[in-house]
Amino acid sequence: MALISSEQAVEALKREDVVGIPTETVYGLAGRIDSEVALKKIFSVKARPFFDPLIVHVESLAQAKLQASAWPEVFDVLAGAFWPGPLTLVTGKAPHISSLITSGLSTVALRCPRHPVALQLIREVGVPLAAPSANRFGHTSPTSSSHVEEEFQGHVNTVEGGPCEIGLESTVVQVEQKDSQWDVTILRPGGISRDQIHEALKIAGIKFQISRQESSASPGHLKHHYQPNCPVVLLQDQEWDAKIQLQIEKHFHKSFTFIHRIRFTSGPLESARTLYEEFRNAAKNPDALIVVEKPQEQSDPQWEAIWDRVERAASFIL
Ligand code: TXA
Ligand code: MG
Repeated sequence: MALISSEQAVEALKREDVVGIPTETVYGLAGRIDSEVALKKIFSVKARPFFDPLIVHVESLAQAKLQASAWPEVFDVLAGAFWPGPLTLVTGKAPHISSLITSGLSTVALRCPRHPVALQLIREVGVPLAAPSANRFGHTSPTSSSHVEEEFQGHVNTVEGGPCEIGLESTVVQVEQKDSQWDVTILRPGGISRDQIHEALKIAGIKFQISRQESSASPGHLKHHYQPNCPVVLLQDQEWDAKIQLQIEKHFHKSFTFIHRIRFTSGPLESARTLYEEFRNAAKNPDALIVVEKPQEQSDPQWEAIWDRVERAASFIL
């Protein structure tokens, strides 16, 4: 890989190539939304199935509205509170949005990132950028430019933007009006917590209900996703011991001589920021097994996105 400048990235995106770009959540693999060539390249580079729709990244609220066929008023509240930032809004798509982006769905996912490099690139290219996380399908997302290099072995040029501020993907939400209230559905927990959404809607005087739903339209929610190159075990109710290790070694027909234990001792923000890097670093050892311990007090909503990712990355939940 080469690290390229923002100017080179704008050139590359204009000529329909794909580029690794920093965002505040994770690095993305970006291509312009009006280029079938670029969109197809995103899927082929990632080995991503076409049934997994892409997020469209915009530089402003005005640009977001141009990509949508419907803009419920509650989106103004959410975008007002959290954009630019790690919240993705799913709504009806405007006719020009390619079905490659939406996997044939009538909806489109929109997000205005807050990393200055991402915003500058979208502005200078002049059209929104489709950008999934810059990792091979199903793997851990990259939170630094060197992770993008590792993922694609030099086949993707990337703009340096430093380590990601959030470290986990954006929260994906869909809303529906039901009678006199808004049903807010969290399709993927992420950088904006359920509590934050609750607070913003409450302050705005909106009548709402928030629920979490696994969407079949959202394979980021496939049971196994976000996986590092070594097995992960999540311990919920048990202590790690030799008996469990033996059971796991039997299952994988190998012995693990490097047990990397994670028991988040800092708060949720710091833990989210470092989780993927910790997965990646541990998995560099060919005999590694990652063991994550879940304490009771980490069950509250601020930890929701972290446990969602750990559960999907885990081969065993004990
Ligand atoms: O933080 C992020 O969101 C990062 C950065 C690069 O912006 N992007 C990201 O993209 O995580 P990706 O493709 O890895 O995940 C996008 C998620 C997927 O789970 C996808 O299924 C869901 O958003 N999604 C996209 N369009 C959708 C739609 N129309 N309806 C429901 N879910 C959708
Ligand atoms: Mg992803």
